[in-house]
Amino acid sequence: MKRGKFITLEGIDGAGKSTQLEKIAAFLRSKGLSAMVTREPGGTPLGEQLRTVLLDKTITMHPATEALLMFASRREHLDKVIVPALAQDKWVISDRFTDASFAYQGGGRGLDNEKLMFLEQWIHGDIQPDLTLYFDVSAELGQQRLNQLNATDRFEQEREDFFQRVRSVYLARAEEYPDRIRCIDASKPLPAVQAEVEEMLENLLLIHE
Ligand code: TYD
Repeated sequence: MKRGKFITLEGIDGAGKSTQLEKIAAFLRSKGLSAMVTREPGGTPLGEQLRTVLLDKTITMHPATEALLMFASRREHLDKVIVPALAQDKWVISDRFTDASFAYQGGGRGLDNEKLMFLEQWIHGDIQPDLTLYFDVSAELGQQRLNQLNATDRFEQEREDFFQRVRSVYLARAEEYPDRIRCIDASKPLPAVQAEVEEMLENLLLIHE
């Protein structure tokens, strides 16, 4: 049976990936495909409640708690949204997935990589995104963009060195999984970024046909 494709978007806070989300869905729909957008943490009623807790800057939590809540949200998301949609030949575009756990909880918070690999294997050993678009900006540029947006959730209030560590894990993973993760220079003007994204989607469409 034909199955839809699973696309995830990644990047440090302020990379501008959320701007691309709807544009990607619109592009795929213009090709006659059924595309849906979703996000992590979140994407289900329980996941959205976990998101509220995870982003609440008045709450502190152990890095392990943070990772477990991210994967709890992910398990629900896979079960209730992602897997059923793919089975119906829908294209699913998720604003973040497990690469974010390696980058933020691993790189940012210093959580042991092996624990994250165990969680990944346990929660979705059989499922990986078909394509991950990683929007790369420096920690400095990410922070500048966040300041303009006046955004400060529990992650966004972190300092520049936190985002440097997050970014270095993303870059390392992009090198480790070059077939799945495509690195996009998101410091470029929006039209140039969008053109690059569309080129990568065209390639994926060719494989799908
Ligand atoms: P984000 O996409 O940045 O939401 P918004 O654009 O609305 O601010 O995601 C929320 C935060 O969650 C982001 O700072 C990264 C963090 N996060 C993790 O730390 N680990 C994860 O596994 C996921 C999915 C997200």
